[in-house]
Amino acid sequence: MTEAFIPPAKPIIGDEERAAVDRVLRSGMIAQGPEVAAFEQEFAEHFKLGRACVAVNSGTSGLHLGLLSNGIGAGDEVIVPSFTFAATANSVALTGATPVFADIALDDFTLDPASVEASITERTKAIMPVHLYGHPAKMEQLCAIADKHGLLLFEDAAQAHGASLHGTPVGAFGAFAMFSLYPTKNMTSGEGGMVSCADETIARNVRLYRNQGMLQQYHNEVVGLNNRMTDIHAAIGRVQLTKVDAWTKTRQDNAAFLSANLEGVIVPAVAEGAVHVYHQYTVRVAEDRDGLAKALKEEYNIGSGMFYPVPNHRLKPFQSPVELPGTEQAARECLSLPVHPSLSQGDLERIVAAVTALAKAGA
Ligand SMILES: Cc1ncc(COP(=O)(O)O)c(C=O)c1O
Repeated sequence: MTEAFIPPAKPIIGDEERAAVDRVLRSGMIAQGPEVAAFEQEFAEHFKLGRACVAVNSGTSGLHLGLLSNGIGAGDEVIVPSFTFAATANSVALTGATPVFADIALDDFTLDPASVEASITERTKAIMPVHLYGHPAKMEQLCAIADKHGLLLFEDAAQAHGASLHGTPVGAFGAFAMFSLYPTKNMTSGEGGMVSCADETIARNVRLYRNQGMLQQYHNEVVGLNNRMTDIHAAIGRVQLTKVDAWTKTRQDNAAFLSANLEGVIVPAVAEGAVHVYHQYTVRVAEDRDGLAKALKEEYNIGSGMFYPVPNHRLKPFQSPVELPGTEQAARECLSLPVHPSLSQGDLERIVAAVTALAKAGA
């Protein structure tokens, strides 16, 4: 095997990020401070959210605090997809509420509105779709269901910086939305999360919960946590904000090339009116997905990912008897191919040739 390994993801950190970190370290002020405040404002403006953003130390914290800030707690149910990273359901469970798993639609791997409506009980308080892989969830139908039943709507936008639906950016639909800033996401702050808040009361609550329940030192208003972002992380995030649009464009171009040329797999669809930002480029492999992924690595030196092979409703902490056929099929068939902005044209051609050859050979 002579060709270089193509990794499934590759965080990009440049001289500007290094200089920004150095600037903060030299300032002597490294915990939450002016860099965090500037990052919050710039993030809201950049993604045209038109609302307050509050930075925290991870996407998971962002979900947790967003839920707490909307009064979610013991006795409540929140409808979530099972086909997502466990952080979605974990954050609900950590508030004391119960995550209720609804099915996804296979066209875009996001919540199926019919399954959501069928999952509503008298304890349901909210619906929390995930904009999985960077494709917006079916927000128009989900907002209508939430309105009809008097439910809150939240957004897990961990993977969807810059995605939109009919011109509305994800992160501007729900009472709150969370963007993850983990290194493999479309932009990073090292670790971190950004909470977009529909109103000032929610934003204030998130600020309280992230800082031991205080806005003013030693005037604690509620029981809170330390989920603060540091100025070091915010400084990285501020630089990445200036680069994320170009990276997203490259992801979209890479995805267009893959979709135009791959054969033997089901390529991702984009809904009418949706802007997909391709955090992942996920195909469906009807026969022997695992064999294809193994051969891609061993025979062609190409990495890939399975997000997510075990649906949340079957994970040990959640074991739920619900039947979710779309979720089960996606978990069996999904395969995420490299789409990140560091791919060369040669890499893309290698991916197309290898996947097409393996798919046609039945892996
Ligand atoms: C869909 C989804 N939700 C939540 C999270 C949690 O974000 P973080 O890793 O920043 O805590 C992630 C990140 O992997 C995610 O992909």
